[in-house]
Amino acid sequence: MNKKRSPLLNWVLFFATLIVVFFLGLLASSVTERRAEQQTTWKPEVQIAKFEPRNEVWGKNYPTEYNSYEKMKESNFRSKYNGNAKIDMLEVDPRLVVMWAGYGFSIDYNQGRGHAYAIEDLRNTLRTGGPTGPDDGPMPSTCWTCKGPDVPRIMNEEGVAAYYTGKWARLGAEIVNPIGCADCHNNETMELQISRPALVEAFQRQGKDITTATHQEMRSLVCAQCHVEYYFDKHREGAEGANYLTFPWDNGQSVEAMEAYYDAKEFSDWTHKLSKAPMLKAQHPGYETYLTGVHAQRGVSCADCHMPYMSEGGKKFTDHHIQSPLNNVENSCMVCHKEKTAQLINDVYERQDKIIENRDILEKLCVRLHVEAKMAWDLGATDAQMKAVLMDIRHAQWRWDYAAASHGASFHSPVEISRVIAGGINIAQEGRIKLARLLIELGYKGEVPYPNITTKALAQEYIGLPMEKLIEEKETFKKNLLSQWEKEAEAREASMPVIYNK
Ligand code: HEC
Ligand code: HEC
Ligand code: HEC
Ligand code: HEC
Repeated sequence: MNKKRSPLLNWVLFFATLIVVFFLGLLASSVTERRAEQQTTWKPEVQIAKFEPRNEVWGKNYPTEYNSYEKMKESNFRSKYNGNAKIDMLEVDPRLVVMWAGYGFSIDYNQGRGHAYAIEDLRNTLRTGGPTGPDDGPMPSTCWTCKGPDVPRIMNEEGVAAYYTGKWARLGAEIVNPIGCADCHNNETMELQISRPALVEAFQRQGKDITTATHQEMRSLVCAQCHVEYYFDKHREGAEGANYLTFPWDNGQSVEAMEAYYDAKEFSDWTHKLSKAPMLKAQHPGYETYLTGVHAQRGVSCADCHMPYMSEGGKKFTDHHIQSPLNNVENSCMVCHKEKTAQLINDVYERQDKIIENRDILEKLCVRLHVEAKMAWDLGATDAQMKAVLMDIRHAQWRWDYAAASHGASFHSPVEISRVIAGGINIAQEGRIKLARLLIELGYKGEVPYPNITTKALAQEYIGLPMEKLIEEKETFKKNLLSQWEKEAEAREASMPVIYNK
């Protein structure tokens, strides 16, 4: 059994190994050489100026990221509750019309979709009305702030307080590029950077310096420029007459802390048309609610799930197709989780289903509160009799909206959102007990009838919205002012040079 190998075979094996090793080495060196070549020969095609708002100009230097960014125009994915398709939420859930009676959202509200649509959707929504000139229309200029990279450009030209002053229509020909590169990146270094002052100022008021944020924190803070709760401060010192964009974080970011902030200022977004309650509209406290969830607590950033690393031709890059991660579970979740795709999707749906079950209960209670409060007013209730009830309505609906508008929060932070909704249900029931007592005092017996609001049209009719007129004004705006904006913007951008490197 210990027959020796012939010396000749040993030599052959020796030289064969030598040759294989030699060629492997050659291959490896050519690969690294080519990598180095790629790095040294990569030359930016164009010069990107400070405040360059045109995404396609940045795209010339970074085509891989730009191509993935362009996919945000897709409108073909629906998960159980979210996705990038345009969905009329008032049609899906007509109760919303009554919840927001007296406020723009009762007129028109669609599900959020890709960043590429930010400008188009804002122009088209009935909420921005049908302005006929720069000083006309229901919305202030501040409404543009989370829509795109022309905003930092104009803030730089006009000054921040001046930018926040005047009507939305004032900047229609200026703010035309949807959310993009200059919103998150430095033009020279490509480092992540904060372009919106409201976030920096909110940190300052809390005694924090945003420039000391870690790289991993920045991968969430770039999103926190927009995906947060905010309001327009009309009384800001040194900015009189402005609608100054402000985050209500001075007492903290919980639902109670922000409520206490608003209550102390006696701030309200609008007075409810039926109940006359001083209402708060939660915007989209996505960042605040994410912070209370397990992923944030384990250091997972927004970008980890919504902008996962991808690879193309051996090159690793950050996917700029920001979307529902359920459309890309393999890259978004499986870096950390070993479960199957179906299991992970099921985990998300399970949390969403359970939360939405109770959120719907709170929503129905809020509708009842508004309707019953209206009945009390109709029967001659006084301000003093209604005061405590109206605060309950304000606080209950704030909790409902905080849970609903913080898009994704039933997955980002299911435990906290369940707590918020439970608190809302309790406040709503307390309010209804007070109302029941008051209605008896006012001589009303029995149950206040629940309105027939089974469709969007019925609900809008119930709260007395002149929909035909609003739609007509919008169409006139599109034909006249909007096409004028588009022409002006085109001419202005044509005169902005693109400097190619030689
Ligand atoms: C400059 C403001 C701004 C910034 C910065 C921003 N967003 Fe958005 N985001 C928006 C707006 C506005 C929409 C809704 C656009 C629409 O519906 O027209 C949106 C929509 C979304 C959607 C829904 C897209 C879909 O297909 O369903 C997701 C997800 C999202 N953003 C995540 C993020 C993440 C993650 C970050 C940070 C990496 C981020 N956003 C940064 C303003 C912003
Ligand atoms: C909502 C914020 C946001 C926007 C808008 C955005 N980026 Fe990024 N970008 C990021 C994040 C987050 C990273 C990852 C950075 C990191 O971790 O260092 C990144 C990374 C990059 C990188 C580094 C290489 C890589 O792929 O990781 C390039 C280049 C880049 N982005 C180009 C662009 C271009 C071009 C645009 C506009 C078409 C753009 N980005 C728009 C957030 C954004
Ligand atoms: C960068 C890593 C990372 C990524 C990416 C990530 N997770 Fe997690 N996930 C974690 C960690 C860490 C925990 C906490 C587990 C622990 O500490 O025991 C967790 C916990 C969870 C939990 C249980 C927490 C709860 O709410 O009860 C679920 C469900 C979950 N992840 C789903 C997902 C899904 C779905 C995705 C993709 C959209 C995803 N995760 C992406 C790291 C990650
Ligand atoms: C652990 C992974 C994970 C992290 C971290 C995370 N998200 Fe999400 N996000 C999800 C999942 C999963 C959904 C649910 C998608 C669905 O229902 O289709 C979601 C939903 C959303 C939505 C609604 C999407 C839609 O299609 O309308 C927005 C907006 C959003 N997230 C923004 C953020 C922001 C901003 C942050 C950071 C502050 C963040 N997310 C952090 C996984 C994550």
